[in-house]
Amino acid sequence: MKREQVINCMFSRWYPKFKHLSIKSHIIPLPVEFIDYLNSDGVVLPKESIQGQGQSQEEEEEWDMDTPHAKPPSFPQFEAQIKKSIATLGGKVFPKLNWSAPRDATWIAFDHTLKCTNPSDIYLLLKSSEFVMHDLNEPFVRCDDSDPDHEAKVQYEMVLRKWLDLKPGLEFRCFIKKNKLIGISQRHPCDFFPFLGKDNGAIVEDIKLFFYNKIYKQFPDENYVFDVYRKSEHNILLLDFNPFGPVTDGLLFEWEELDSWPDGDSASEEVPEPVFRFIETEMGVKPSPYQQHGIPVDMVDLAAGTDPHKLIDFLQMKTQSQQDDSSGEDDSSDDKPEENVSNVLAKRTDGDNKDTNNSDSKTCTADSATIS
Ligand SMILES: Nc1ncnc2c1ncn2[C@@H]1O[C@H](COP(=O)(O)OP(=O)(O)OP(=O)(O)O)[C@@H](O)[C@H]1O
Ligand SMILES: [Mg+2]
Repeated sequence: MKREQVINCMFSRWYPKFKHLSIKSHIIPLPVEFIDYLNSDGVVLPKESIQGQGQSQEEEEEWDMDTPHAKPPSFPQFEAQIKKSIATLGGKVFPKLNWSAPRDATWIAFDHTLKCTNPSDIYLLLKSSEFVMHDLNEPFVRCDDSDPDHEAKVQYEMVLRKWLDLKPGLEFRCFIKKNKLIGISQRHPCDFFPFLGKDNGAIVEDIKLFFYNKIYKQFPDENYVFDVYRKSEHNILLLDFNPFGPVTDGLLFEWEELDSWPDGDSASEEVPEPVFRFIETEMGVKPSPYQQHGIPVDMVDLAAGTDPHKLIDFLQMKTQSQQDDSSGEDDSSDDKPEENVSNVLAKRTDGDNKDTNNSDSKTCTADSATIS
């Protein structure tokens, strides 16, 4: 995969040309200070974003006293742009950066979705996401012409898309090789959608027509992947473009097979029949690739013993707690050990988090995938 292929899939590259086929969206360039904020450890929300959200002056001061390291950053101008965009887009938005949405961070959101109604919702999701970190720090890591000097020149952007309540069974990922639609996969392989078996002929026809009439040879590459939403019969909405390579989740296809898929004659106008893959029985669903993002990494480290420092802190804390108990001091609080655990974890978390997940690829492969 080449850098250019990744750059072609950057939101601001494809959206202006295809916006009439896609969801209404705004692109806001990221100020350098905001990039630094995303890259810094800890999750402290900018002051403006938490003001007016039900916190009194005293509560804010109390918070400041309790958290001496937490200096809220401030981006008033950027934040004003975000608020304006949210209002113009109907009050609810879906956030992402140049390529990726913080899909691995939904566990931290109040309603476990990426629906954002104010800047602090967006900041919290972006700051908690490894996928976003991948965009910021290693977008070209899988490219064979990766060039660190050039990488610094990416103009980072926040993308805010009008929020739509999408039905996951109507989303599809389409694989284009040598300008031919070779494969279509259901977008959410962790679920079984019984209607796909019945509608599959019509789905393939609609996607074929959409591709050959509206995308074909308009995208500046001959190998790529795009995602669509079939709103209704003959009504397809373009969601995203992705590079043709393992940095993109092949879903019900393996990249090895896509790579070795017969190219055919790229000059020929003959339209091959794409292979449509979907889960055909309830037994065929794949385990969710995001389940590993659902629990704080410190807990995983503790349970697995992968970080000896955390383990030592935890054991010391346990010993201390037992000593306190046996010395007959105040032991009325049942949840004291948990409080201590969080303190220790919070302390040890500084600088630990970034390299805990493999960020070479944001694709997390399930161990025991069953594909129908
Ligand atoms: N405007 C929107 N409103 C609500 N949900 C959305 C919206 N756009 C996308 N989604 C949901 O979020 C999912 C991920 O969106 P998107 O494909 O843009 O993220 P991504 O980071 O590019 O994913 P990938 O890395 O797999 O390409 C979509 O499959 C869809 O279910
Ligand atoms: Mg994408």
